[in-house]
Amino acid sequence: MAPKMRLDKLVSSQGACSRSDVKRLIKQKEILVNGVIAKDSSEKVDPELDVISVSGQVLSFKKHIYLMLNKPQGVVSATEDDTYPTVISLVPEEYMRPGLFPAGRLDADTTGFVLLTDDGDFAHDILSPKKHVEKTYVATLAEPLRETDVKALQSGIQLKDGTSCQPAKIAILDPDGKTVEIKICEGKYHQVKRMFAACENRVLTLKRTAIGSLKIDEKLSIGQVREIDSDELSLIKAYK
Ligand code: URA
Repeated sequence: MAPKMRLDKLVSSQGACSRSDVKRLIKQKEILVNGVIAKDSSEKVDPELDVISVSGQVLSFKKHIYLMLNKPQGVVSATEDDTYPTVISLVPEEYMRPGLFPAGRLDADTTGFVLLTDDGDFAHDILSPKKHVEKTYVATLAEPLRETDVKALQSGIQLKDGTSCQPAKIAILDPDGKTVEIKICEGKYHQVKRMFAACENRVLTLKRTAIGSLKIDEKLSIGQVREIDSDELSLIKAYK
């Protein structure tokens, strides 16, 4: 049985509204618990047993939450940090859940798609190279990428410390060969930067643009977070 939760915490955790919205909705008699008008936002409810409706809509309790963040530079992919803001600090209150964490790390200077969730099994699956969930990055490079580099990356490049990488997919996006899309299933430390360093090149900017077949929402401004819906989730989870 799920532990009982405060009504305002439960309703706001479903992503529809903030805790202060819940207070207002209670005043407006818009929230019912088992058909009875709720009077107190601190009332304890059972997410699995109690039927809660908000403005006539029955809430179906979502076990887990999945969020897309368009990560800015200067923010660390951690839940806590003494020096820098974390990806968690960008999550609006209505999406906050205990145990929310970034599924995979981007460097502080890397931008783009970070998936945040409280579903450890899902995170494990999308990060495991064995599940073949591709992460797509767009890198701008200091030097044009040579044909020999493309071949080496595609066949599995060896990093300078001797570590072998799985084959990557490469597409050159501009005529001067300095803007490159790379798709990898692994998540070694600084992997993309080290892969290009192994080609005697240097990454100037790096953005993650997709996880699996789910692309970052271009309407999401930098630093903004939104929920990933179940159709979108299946674009990530379509393991090969
Ligand atoms: N590879 C890197 O080098 N940095 C990132 O942030 C992600 C992948």
